Amino acid sequence: MHSPEKITAQKILGFLILSLSTIAASHHVPNSSIALGEVVYQGRCKVCHGNLGDGKTFAANALFPPPKNFTSKSTKTELSFKRMIRSITKGTPNTAMMPWENILSEQEIIAVVNYIRQRFMSPQK
Ligand code: HEC
Repeated sequence: MHSPEKITAQKILGFLILSLSTIAASHHVPNSSIALGEVVYQGRCKVCHGNLGDGKTFAANALFPPPKNFTSKSTKTELSFKRMIRSITKGTPNTAMMPWENILSEQEIIAVVNYIRQRFMSPQK
């Protein structure tokens, strides 16, 4: 006879192994980060970078250089994850892209990069 404790322990172990192998198999960004990133983007970035991430906004008319179009081919090759973290944290001097390090947490900056990359910069888009 199986004792109930043993079954539970086996189930937990099985679940852990399954979860770990799933995490190892995919470099998947947790949905919670994407959700947080969406909130940040909608609240802070959309006004310049646009609902579709293409930089075609009313604000863009007044900005030179214009906001990055995240959906263009050249941007996708140019902007690495690391560079985006840096640009958002420190801003780009002499442009409307201000530093966000005193406004957003590190976690929020990572989340918004994850969101932009998944929503606007994935290869199939
Ligand atoms: C006031 C308008 C404005 C807002 C708001 C804004 N941006 Fe930008 N952003 C720009 C402009 C203009 C550029 C182009 C300057 C440049 O080449 O870096 C830019 C460039 C960028 C780049 C590319 C920088 C590089 O390395 O080439 C990233 C990434 C970016 N923005 C992310 C964001 C995120 C994330 C937010 C919200 C937290 C945001 N931006 C909010 C105007 C804005």
